[in-house]
Amino acid sequence: CGIIGYTGEHHVTEILLHGLKRLEYRGYDSSGVGVLNRKKIRVNKKAGALGRLTETMEADLDGTIGIAHTRWATHGGVTDGNAHPHLSSDGSIAVVHNGIIDNYQELRERLAGRGISFSSDTDSEVLAHLIQLELQGTGFSGFDPRGGAAAHSSDSEKPSGSGAAPGKPAAKRSPGEDQALHPAGPAAAVARALEFVRGTYGLVVLFKEFPETLVAAKNGSPLAVGISQDGRYIASDPIAFAAYTRQVIFLEDRELAVITPDTLSIFDAAQAEVRRPAETIDVRSADVSKGEYQDYLEKEIFEQPESIRRAFGNGGRLDRDFGTARLGGIELNGSQIRNIRQAHFIGMGTAMYAGQVGARMMEGLARISSHTLDASELRWSNPIVEDDSVYFALSQSGETLDTLLAVKELQNRGGRVYGIINAVGSTIARACGAGVYIHAGPEVSVASTKAFTGQITSMFLLALSFGRIRHLSPSEGKRLIDALELIPDQINQILAQSAQVQDIARRFKHATSFMYLGRGVSYPIAMEGALKLKELSYLHAEGFSSGNLKHGPLALIDETVPSLFIAPEGDTLDKVISNIQEVKARKGPVITVTNADSRELEELSDALIRVPKCPEILSPLLTIVPLQLFALYLTRELGRNVDQPRNLAKSVTTD
Ligand code: G6P
Repeated sequence: CGIIGYTGEHHVTEILLHGLKRLEYRGYDSSGVGVLNRKKIRVNKKAGALGRLTETMEADLDGTIGIAHTRWATHGGVTDGNAHPHLSSDGSIAVVHNGIIDNYQELRERLAGRGISFSSDTDSEVLAHLIQLELQGTGFSGFDPRGGAAAHSSDSEKPSGSGAAPGKPAAKRSPGEDQALHPAGPAAAVARALEFVRGTYGLVVLFKEFPETLVAAKNGSPLAVGISQDGRYIASDPIAFAAYTRQVIFLEDRELAVITPDTLSIFDAAQAEVRRPAETIDVRSADVSKGEYQDYLEKEIFEQPESIRRAFGNGGRLDRDFGTARLGGIELNGSQIRNIRQAHFIGMGTAMYAGQVGARMMEGLARISSHTLDASELRWSNPIVEDDSVYFALSQSGETLDTLLAVKELQNRGGRVYGIINAVGSTIARACGAGVYIHAGPEVSVASTKAFTGQITSMFLLALSFGRIRHLSPSEGKRLIDALELIPDQINQILAQSAQVQDIARRFKHATSFMYLGRGVSYPIAMEGALKLKELSYLHAEGFSSGNLKHGPLALIDETVPSLFIAPEGDTLDKVISNIQEVKARKGPVITVTNADSRELEELSDALIRVPKCPEILSPLLTIVPLQLFALYLTRELGRNVDQPRNLAKSVTTD
């Protein structure tokens, strides 16, 4: 799930452990380090928290070159042996890998046929063995570097459509690059090995025989190289080395990088050298600390007044005179916007629920028929892409593989996809090429909070700007802008009542099942509220439209199952109140989040959380906040890990 590597002048272990710490937030279940020390690759890897690894680091686990990994299990259980790095059978190669090798079973069998025994149950281990064989001239490619020519062995067939000819000389080479792709060299061996691999990977290889060189390859899983005076870094997320350098080159799919302390050579699938300038990235290390808060989740919830302000550019994205928003990244002119007939919002998890709010905003304000799609479903659904449709891909990390692959599927069919992304320069942001950054700042806690409200704010701006070109009057636009600008302070008012939410969480901490219900824009808030509770507390929580209550969920209601109703002022408030009555008639406890002055609601609710008044279309930005706090406090009451829930990862780069 997370990779960091280094080759240079400094002690590598400190850099690797620091990098792992930075990557920890993405979620992991094991971690490991491999370094070259006195001509031997030494590995320490452990299941469980990073502390288990750091406590067991021995003195000889240091050097000036090494690789490290945090794992989130896909193939093979959570054990020390399944953690990365994986060693080849002679110990001369160590590999860390993100992604999934689809044909690993077949490769395992073929390797076993060569007498190779495996020390883990992972798909990744095959990579170490394949590379070792290619390097020593006994690999599946049949290429023998010592003989200098291809000596095809019996099992030299490759999967159809495989890439470059192994060891093919690059068109133009300087002496260092010459070495980089020498057929007997490490990079050519990795390239030959990867021709037999189907699947996704971001991988970094450490070699006993090449004591200064790391080789990295990417296909579908992110990798970035960091460049500094004192060495070269490689990581799945530049946040892992941002404390040392901000100069970054992102690798593209099917590229291979050869990294030494003072050189970096990148080759494409045809083994032609790629030249790409380094970018300076803006990763404020300072932002990635808890500050005065007990956990990242609390910090990120409390940051929302600021992060929402950043999403509307501190006013810079608002045009008060015209009652509209200006989003430079959406390159559509007025007539194109008038001709849009459908808008689709795609994402996974919290981002998908944000998309459901966005679709309602787009439909309500711009009168464009709008839908939300689960990216993992879309990818395999043979989607119908029309010229008058526009797509928006939502992602906090910009790395979610399902979302990325859905974007590519849409683009292959000529679809226009804009990103609504938090992580600047991330894979999805680059794949979309245009869109809106939400500027929430680094989000560390696995459960997403400020990215959710940032995405909703951005989609509101989008819907407002499209609406103003189509149906909305200037005065209506101005009214909405005025209301948006009040939201940060209104969230501060809600946060000031956090002690009340904490009391409610204490009152209900013995319940094991919760229902979340709402209508209209509050329906996705019910879904997101339930997701927050289940991912953090491991309690059962479900979100429904309150209209659906009597079509099934009502059967679950009794005095032990609390229902949280999201009931803002608006067209359907009366309907929601009758749903509350249906629950009360079955003795179900009711917690209501509302901004309505309703005596009836007060009387019906066992607990009532007040939020400030705003137009209903903006109410999700307010009503979600008490639900985030409720999940936080209940989880603390139960003594669970708030920032790193079991089984979950912050950034899911497998599909
Ligand atoms: C993971 C995270 C969720 C997140 C989802 C989508 O499941 O645990 O919090 O909502 O991925 O992530 P993205 O980075 O694309 O928004």
